[in-house]
Amino acid sequence: MALRKILTQGDEQLLKHSRKVEKFDARLHTLLDDMRETLENSGGVGLAAPQVGVLRRVVVLLDVNTEPEEMVELVNPEVIETHGEERVVEGCLSVPGVYGYVTRPTWAKIRAQDRDGNWFEREGEGIVAQCFCHETEHLDGHLFTEKVEEYVDPEDLQQGGEGDAE
Ligand code: NI
Repeated sequence: MALRKILTQGDEQLLKHSRKVEKFDARLHTLLDDMRETLENSGGVGLAAPQVGVLRRVVVLLDVNTEPEEMVELVNPEVIETHGEERVVEGCLSVPGVYGYVTRPTWAKIRAQDRDGNWFEREGEGIVAQCFCHETEHLDGHLFTEKVEEYVDPEDLQQGGEGDAE
């Protein structure tokens, strides 16, 4: 496994559309393993492949609602259902040090494939629903800053609470 470099805002790879994964091969598995390690090392809660310069529909995220927290791999993910609405503070590993309020669903269901190509569905509440939306938007070249309603001074954030980077 290896750490991958996380691209930051200004890099045009972050604005491109990622292609569907069609081969569930060793190369995909290496990408997923590297993304898991890179996410763990970053202290963030989600990472999409274009953030490490790979334009494929691949995401890893931390489900903080499970005990212990589970690292989830999502290949070709799609948000298929959402409920509710809440205003939450959001950040992004590709936009370091920047946080702002966005409106997200309180609950979301995602459909995705695992690393071997098997389809599954998964539900998430709160920050996990937020993360499902944030990460799938990365796959279409969108950054959360497009949705920010009000920026927040990072010094005003509670430690370990709001404002996890995705
Ligand atoms: Ni992000």
